[in-house]
Amino acid sequence: VRVVLLFGGRSGEHVISCATAAGVLRSIDRTRFDVTPVGITRDGQWVLADDDPDRWTIREGHLPEVEPSTHEVILPLSVDQRAVRVLAQDDVPRVLGDVDVVFPLLHGPFGEDGTLQGLLEMADVRYVGAGVLASAVGMDKHFMKLVLAGQGLPISPFTVIRPGEWEANPQAWTESVAHLGLPVFVKPARAGSSLGISRVSDLADLPAAIAEAQRHDPKVIVEAGVVGREIECAVLGGRGGSRPRASLPGEIVVTADGRDFYDFEAKYLAEQDVALSCPADLPPELVEEVRDVAVRTFEAVGAEGLSRVDVFVTDGGDVVVNEINTMPGFTQFSMYPRMWERTGLSYPDLITELLELALE
Ligand code: DAL
Ligand code: MG
Repeated sequence: VRVVLLFGGRSGEHVISCATAAGVLRSIDRTRFDVTPVGITRDGQWVLADDDPDRWTIREGHLPEVEPSTHEVILPLSVDQRAVRVLAQDDVPRVLGDVDVVFPLLHGPFGEDGTLQGLLEMADVRYVGAGVLASAVGMDKHFMKLVLAGQGLPISPFTVIRPGEWEANPQAWTESVAHLGLPVFVKPARAGSSLGISRVSDLADLPAAIAEAQRHDPKVIVEAGVVGREIECAVLGGRGGSRPRASLPGEIVVTADGRDFYDFEAKYLAEQDVALSCPADLPPELVEEVRDVAVRTFEAVGAEGLSRVDVFVTDGGDVVVNEINTMPGFTQFSMYPRMWERTGLSYPDLITELLELALE
């Protein structure tokens, strides 16, 4: 089976995507899958990439990056009727041959948001994960909430500040944010890995938080903070009419003093500041509730293949959905594979199952 692993990409999560690819390159079953790694540069150039996982691993002082190339470049619009075209050194298009399935290991806009999925649909190429609509809904926290609320799933109150609206009347927006109660979380509507997110507990800090979020996306969402434990649940399957299944939930425990929340740095650079505990220490009825909410969230957005659903569990035992990620971090140490590992599905077997689901 010929697999193209696509990674890197144009979003702010380029580096994370490379790390995700490193994990898959290291563990994919090479006896079954013939792997071609294809990197996408920050500018959107597609290049044949190094097959060595070490090249793509995040280490202290090393943030992996797909470098632009003067040769073996695949044009941005490069997938053509189940074949990936590359340009060789002499600029003559070369076709890698039939591709059976693409594994888009891409996080964030232009990868996890439906754009790439649309390209692959047009080219009639099979791919792992959610389709166009579910990817787009999962990427946009505004529409994600509308879809979840519309199907009766519990979400926290929020307000959306569209491009230009804040600048037109900051005073009115500040009042409207105050109605949510403090603290609030100010987020770019379409980003990931906590990029551009601020926790605001004093309204004087709101303008700077909005400006920071707007660096990532002109549309900003402000969410009421939920007091509760941060619980995550992995969902898998959901193709060909069968219901997806949920893993045992895990918990994010921020252990370092002075760290506000599970931010970008805690996620990838200061891992000693957080503990990923799995399975989460929850009473059995809450475990079942979290798994049920996770599956319903997955189905509500129409996801396929895989998603990680992040929720809060309040002291009163309520489950509130924070978000769904249709292409969650996917190194062997990331929460999504770890939750499956603890549920009895190893990382290599998980990769195989995802590829088989895509080929169904
Ligand atoms: N957006 C990151 C990769 C995650 O959800 O894990
Ligand atoms: Mg996310």
